[in-house]
Formats: sequence, structure tokens, C-alpha cells
Amino acid sequence: MLNTDLLVSKFKKLYPESPNPRIFAGPGRINVIGGHTDYNLGFVLPCAVDREIIVVAGNRGDDKLKLFSLDYEEGFETTLDDLKFNNNKKWANYLMGVFSVLMADGFKLKGMNIVFGGNIPQGGGMSSSAALEVAVAYAVRALQEINLSDLNLVKACQKAENKFVGVMCGIMDQFASAMSKKDQLLFLDCADLSYKFIPLNFPDLSFFVSDTKKQRTLASSEYNKRREQCTEATNIFKGLDPKVRGLRDVSIPEFEKNKEKIPLPARKRAEHVVYEIDRVKKAAEALKNNNLEMLGEIERSSMKSMKETFEISCPELDAMVEIADSVKGVYGTRIIGGGFGGCTLSLVKNSALKELETKIMTEYPKRTGLLPEFWVVRSADGAREIV
Ligand code: GLA
Repeated sequence: MLNTDLLVSKFKKLYPESPNPRIFAGPGRINVIGGHTDYNLGFVLPCAVDREIIVVAGNRGDDKLKLFSLDYEEGFETTLDDLKFNNNKKWANYLMGVFSVLMADGFKLKGMNIVFGGNIPQGGGMSSSAALEVAVAYAVRALQEINLSDLNLVKACQKAENKFVGVMCGIMDQFASAMSKKDQLLFLDCADLSYKFIPLNFPDLSFFVSDTKKQRTLASSEYNKRREQCTEATNIFKGLDPKVRGLRDVSIPEFEKNKEKIPLPARKRAEHVVYEIDRVKKAAEALKNNNLEMLGEIERSSMKSMKETFEISCPELDAMVEIADSVKGVYGTRIIGGGFGGCTLSLVKNSALKELETKIMTEYPKRTGLLPEFWVVRSADGAREIV
């Protein structure tokens, strides 16, 4: 469990000028299906989980931003008129990004003192960065009493990541971190941001997240490259039908009919996305029909497509997926973040959890030389103030 008291006492020690800080939590997320569909305006099926970033925050009278990361045990100080990307303290960019975007949107902000920490693996595919952005935005909104709807808060956090941090992510992570409800999956339409909840009534099912511990060095540049390739394919379909807004508007038959017009590798990227969007709809049906076997098959074909067609896997992710999927009682396993390392999600029967853990611990280090970590995570409510 995260120690909120520790964060608060650190805050009080560092910033005696803010005696009454408030506390906000932004959860990480898993995504049951819908890999790289969000920025193609497709569907996703995520939920927030019981791993989170806690932000302890207080107002200042001036325009200074004083930040402290408990996990890195380091501080960072700047002023609101001097917010710029910092290469040495990468973590500070997520916080500065939120302030910068909100000010660019016209909000007159004052300085703040912040201490934060969390238990979401970093850069691992459970969206620690979105969780941090959302928790900071909640803190700014509440403490500075700005008029910002939940949806605009989500959009501002995505913009912070796109414009300030420089990762062209879609909206799924920030949306899931802010809008989730416990015991539900969020079926989100990324074209118009309408959503509904699908109840998670599966007492015998666990969400098992494994961290490959493979550093995602290529992650942001390859992520942006995938996004450009999807845009390239989208533009070709737009040329055929101006009503196409994103790959979401291309049906499977239309794709098959016209795919030769798209150069490689963009054609393969589009193929993954068009079929993956269809898989999200099928997965939602399978869940409604309590058909976990079917859901597992869909998970497995999603993973195959991410590996062979979208090409965002790596030997470590492949090893984790193969080991997990070989355990009886595992329905399916797939990458849950941008790819190139980080975490996988296995949908697994509770009765198979022990065997899954043992098999990963014995086989994964032998195959990769890395020591993995894993957790059973539970669905959770979206961001909140802790009172
Ligand atoms: C990252 C991004 C999301 C989404 C996923 C892949 O988590 O932040 O917007 O694109 O990758 O599904």
C-alpha cells in the first residue's frame, strides 16, 4: 500500500508555508483490448486499477512551482513564466506540462507546492504518466478553483503529454484514469468520447499484470512513428472517401478492397488497427455473454497482430506472453501499453494464479536474463480527492 502519511509529512517538512495541503489520487490503468486504436478514433476497453499516484499539494502566494518526487527523492523548482521541457528531470515535465497547457487555455494560475509518489511501475504500460497528469490536474482544479469540466481536464492532460512531453499518445490513458468506475470496464468511443460501462461480474477471473522489466528506450520515438504511419494510411482512405476521419471509419471489407493502395509498412499498421477495432466490439459482446473463452481468443489474436502486423513487441514481451499463455487457466495475454517493453496483461482463472507465478519465475529469467515483477490488479474508481 502507498504510504500517504509519508508523502504528507515530507510535504510539511519541505513547505512549512503551506500548512494545510490537500491530497489527490490518480490511478493507473489496464486495457483489456484495443491496442493503438485510440488515436485512430476507434474503441478501447480499459479500466483504472488499484495502483496509483498520490499528489499532495498546496497553494503558494507567488508564481513559483516547487515540486518533489518521493520515488526519485529529488526536487525541482521553477516559475510559471519559465516552464520548459527538462531533459534531466523527466518526471517534472508531466507536472509542468499540466500547468503549461492550462495556462495556454486561458486559466490564470498561481504557484504551488507539490510532493508526489506512487506504486505504478514507471514507463511500464500501466500509464503512470497519465495518472500523474490527472492527479496534478485534479489538484490544480480544486486548489485554484478553476472551472474545468472532467472532460476538458482529460483533454488538457492528453495535451500536456502531446505538446509538452512530446509523446503523441491518444486519449485512453488519461480518460481511464479520470473516468473509470470500480468493477466496470470503460467502453470508450474515441471518435466522440461517448462511453458506457460494462460490468465486471467475474469472481473467478483475475487481471494479472507482468512487468518484463525491459526498458522501453525506443518507446516514444517508435510510438510516434506508428502514429504517423496510421495517419499516412488514413490520408489514403480520406482521398477515397472524404468522410473518413480516422481508420475507425474504414470497414474491414473497404480495407481489404483498397489495401494495395497503401505502401508498406503503413498498410500493415492500418490492417492491425482496422481489425483491432473490430476485436474491441467482439470482446465487449463476449463479456456481455459471459464468454471468457471467446474473450481469451480475442486477446490472443490481438497480441499476434501487435507482434506481427503492428510490430510493437520485443523478445522479452514475446517470452512473457508465450510463458503465460502456456499455463492452463490463462485465457489470453497481451501488451497493455505502447509496446517495446513494459507490461503484459493476462486474463486468468484464480485457480491458475499460483502456477502462472511459478512458471514465470522459473522460465522468464532463464529466457531473458531479467527478473520480472507481477501483480494481481483490481479495477478501481477514477481520480479522486482523499479526505
Ligand atoms: C499508450 C498511449 C495510449 C494508447 C496505448 C496503446 O498507453 O498513451 O494513448 O495509444 O499506448 O493502446
